[in-house]
Amino acid sequence: MRQAGFIIGSKTKLVILGAQGQVGRAVAAQAGRRRIAGGALGRAECDITDRAAVARAVAGSGLVVNCAAYTSVDQAEAEVETAYRINAVGAETVATVCAEAGIPLLHLSTDYVFDGASPLPAREDDPARPVNAHGRSKLAGEIAVRERLQSHIVLRTSWVFSADGQNFVKTMLRLAHARAPLQVVDDQIGGPVSPIGAPIISAGRRRSAATSLPMPCLQAVTPRCSRLRPWIIRHRRGVH
Ligand SMILES: NC(=O)c1ccc[n+]([C@@H]2O[C@H](COP(=O)([O-])OP(=O)(O)OC[C@H]3O[C@@H](n4cnc5c(N)ncnc54)[C@H](OP(=O)(O)O)[C@@H]3O)[C@@H](O)[C@H]2O)c1
Repeated sequence: MRQAGFIIGSKTKLVILGAQGQVGRAVAAQAGRRRIAGGALGRAECDITDRAAVARAVAGSGLVVNCAAYTSVDQAEAEVETAYRINAVGAETVATVCAEAGIPLLHLSTDYVFDGASPLPAREDDPARPVNAHGRSKLAGEIAVRERLQSHIVLRTSWVFSADGQNFVKTMLRLAHARAPLQVVDDQIGGPVSPIGAPIISAGRRRSAATSLPMPCLQAVTPRCSRLRPWIIRHRRGVH
């Protein structure tokens, strides 16, 4: 089991899947800061489409956070099958194994499940209408998680940035340093989100502590400027 900055205890408490990605690393770092015991597994240690590998990986844990995903939004149009195999079937596999083992699951999803047509930020219970292959594959994953496992949270986020990985903020900074004229799409509204590790850990702890939650779909985004209605700010004000 790979250690990614947090303590591997005698009994694994938190298992992060897809832990080498941008969000997975943020969750592992946050778990480390809070001294939460657990394991952070990249694709090499646990492929979420491999049911036996998932079962081995999550055995004995108290909470699974699934950050593993196919995230190439444009490429998904040409690789629909791969996107579904990971985002839908992989998610279903993780949820099924968690259900069998009685382990709560926090599953990451995206604002791409919405069409973005509304001028208002989407609520968690608004109808999802994805307009591209990535969004459709992620929505299929959400549905599979809901159907397979009662003890879950689907946490949608968007525009995550951190020092790790590729993201909009880093791209803009790199281009700014190059001092070349910037050409950026102007038909999207989004609020870059950071940090993401803390709300995931906080939501996951709630999930593992409760037998049921009033709203198992949450949205962790930047207030005011997002296609998603933000859960973070309401959480801080104690609404949930
Ligand atoms: N970053 C954002 O702005 C953003 C926005 C909305 C939603 N999200 C959601 O947040 C989650 C994490 O995204 P991210 O930004 O961390 O993406 P990321 O940086 O692309 O990381 C995804 C990770 O999943 C791994 N992976 C892919 N297929 C796998 C498989 N079959 N088994 C195990 N691991 C696999 C990837 O490994 P390889 O590198 O080997 O492929 C990669 O390390 C996703 O569900 C995504 O939809 C992120």
